[in-house]
Amino acid sequence: MAAQINPSILSADFARLADEAKAVDGADWLHVDVMDNHFVPNLTLGVPVVESLARATDTPLDCHLMIEAPDRWAPQYVEAGAASVTFHVEAAAAPVRLAREIRAKGARAAMALRPATPVEPYEDLLPELDMLLIMTVEPGFGGQAFLDIMLPKIRRTRELISKHGLELWLQVDGGVSESTIERCADAGADVFVAGSAVYGAEDPSDAVRALRAQAEGATAKASWACDH
Ligand code: DX5
Ligand code: ZN
Repeated sequence: MAAQINPSILSADFARLADEAKAVDGADWLHVDVMDNHFVPNLTLGVPVVESLARATDTPLDCHLMIEAPDRWAPQYVEAGAASVTFHVEAAAAPVRLAREIRAKGARAAMALRPATPVEPYEDLLPELDMLLIMTVEPGFGGQAFLDIMLPKIRRTRELISKHGLELWLQVDGGVSESTIERCADAGADVFVAGSAVYGAEDPSDAVRALRAQAEGATAKASWACDH
């Protein structure tokens, strides 16, 4: 699969979300960070904003729920118009049931791992998912420094995906920029969330194009992708 670039609107101007969505016309998805001030120490937006944003843009919404009780709330984000819904495994009571419910409602189901959460215990769950998100910062804020120590986890996850022959997308989120995206792609990521690197740039669409070119260049040389 070609590299996908998902700008995170966490770094956009929240008073102008519809315009900010249009400012990144080359984006594959718009990454929407939902924070509840419990799972993470920050508060952003909820279902009504996602509903309005889904109406205001043709770019599909990739909702990243950094919230407690995702079993209760995640289905509402599908109904609000999100095409992909990501819950954190650390917060989910029944991740398999939840992933199945998200898929049954018609969205892609994704599961996120905080930096200290290993992937190995979830190997058997991977076929239930459309995407796995490996956080490359502690979730909660944009603009943090990329955690290099996550690269081995990305590599091991890519090996699991190959071992089982899965169509699972592997997303990275946090500190992804022109100086880190190639390492992520080389390690096996194929979906890249970038907040400050896109919305902090002079021209967000140019930043998306540049990140995509870097990711595709690094993927073409990566050992994990040579049989594709
Ligand atoms: C952090 C969020 C990220 C954030 C990334 O908890 O999940 O999506 O927007 O921002 P940058 O790319 O600036 O690290
Ligand atoms: Zn995010």
